Amino acid sequence: MRFGINTLDDLDEIGVKGKTVLCRIDINQPVDRAKGTLKDTTRIEACIPTLKELSGKGAKLVLLAHQGSDIEYKNFYTTEPHAKALSSFLGKEVRFIDDVCGPAAREAIGKLQEGEILLLDNVRFVSEEQTLFETKLLLSHEEQAKTLLVRKLAPLVDLYVCDAFASAHRDQPSLCGFEQVLPSAMGRLFEEEFCVISGIMEKPERPCVFVLGGAKISDAFLMMKTVLSSGVADQVLSGGLVGEVLLWASGGDSGNIGEAARAFITKEGYADLVETAKELLSAHRDRIELPRDFGAVSGGRRVEFPPGKVPADTLPADIGSETAARYQAQIRAAKTVFVNGPMGVFEEEATELGTRLVWDALADTAAYTVIGGGDSIAATKKYGKTKDINYICTGGGALIRFLTGEELPVVRALRHGSAIKQKLL
Ligand code: 3PG
Repeated sequence: MRFGINTLDDLDEIGVKGKTVLCRIDINQPVDRAKGTLKDTTRIEACIPTLKELSGKGAKLVLLAHQGSDIEYKNFYTTEPHAKALSSFLGKEVRFIDDVCGPAAREAIGKLQEGEILLLDNVRFVSEEQTLFETKLLLSHEEQAKTLLVRKLAPLVDLYVCDAFASAHRDQPSLCGFEQVLPSAMGRLFEEEFCVISGIMEKPERPCVFVLGGAKISDAFLMMKTVLSSGVADQVLSGGLVGEVLLWASGGDSGNIGEAARAFITKEGYADLVETAKELLSAHRDRIELPRDFGAVSGGRRVEFPPGKVPADTLPADIGSETAARYQAQIRAAKTVFVNGPMGVFEEEATELGTRLVWDALADTAAYTVIGGGDSIAATKKYGKTKDINYICTGGGALIRFLTGEELPVVRALRHGSAIKQKLL
């Protein structure tokens, strides 16, 4: 047991051979809907050790996963291509059934033999699992155990394993319901991510620098507050929308990010964060680095401006060269660096400079480097730095929420399920 949660070692005491094990994984990846293929397989590769171990020990393995959501609808898709990718990484067939908890899925589960693996279809095809449902009508974990999904699948399985660290911030039946009725454990990936990230929070080697950027930023501000007030962060280097909101909050001419940026932040629903940013700056200004210049596109070319000189119709889309050079020096002088979010729109040639230079420094610093989140992983791959980063976390939102210090719903549910010795059905 670690962190009050069973690991796969604890399940050995119960024995998994011949048992039906329901394993919730996070293999949510960008998809190419036209071709019916996956654009990335990072998360699929990451859950292989758990699947190999459980099927190798003779479990009848049922995999449950989501793909896309109502907030990320372009990726809302069947998990059929994932079964092919899982099979190829495992070197063993992973069967797929286009059903989640209906009669076809239940029949296929009943026919599983020892060591066989079955992937069910996208669990978010079941409306009770939707994110909207989660936010508008939040069910307690006990209530989640009474949803259709749990009522239909739990009687067919003996044990529940959650290896979906990247979804640990979600409060949904497939993640928090089964632990109410089944003996539960975390998988190897969940265990590793939990260990590495808690280690950084507890005893980071100093200086410990946080590089925060990207475009999905609400949790980033909560997390910044935690790591600055607890003293974990010696320095926060800000880029992307995080940097723009902080600059806006800093006020005056040097904080003038331009009309277009303010309108964009407001449209994205982040204007409220300016108040939070003001509080952070008033308490920790000496440890927060703000962008000193921006990169943007004008007439199809890269242009750079200091804050206060951004033309009204120009949207900053990168940090500028002076800022990038400062951040490089700070990353190279650090002992621990945690990164979430790129410095700008790195997919476009004109606005990739800041992200590229920061990632160059991440690759050659002697510091222990950790990155998390889909965009940061994509940047790492684009610049060929995968082998140079010490730890790549599969979670984006989950990692940030973890770093806010809050107990994540799935962690709470797993602690509950770890105390269950026998199926409660
Ligand atoms: C993620 O991509 O962060 C996880 O798979 C969770 O997805 P969600 O944000 O759509 O719940």
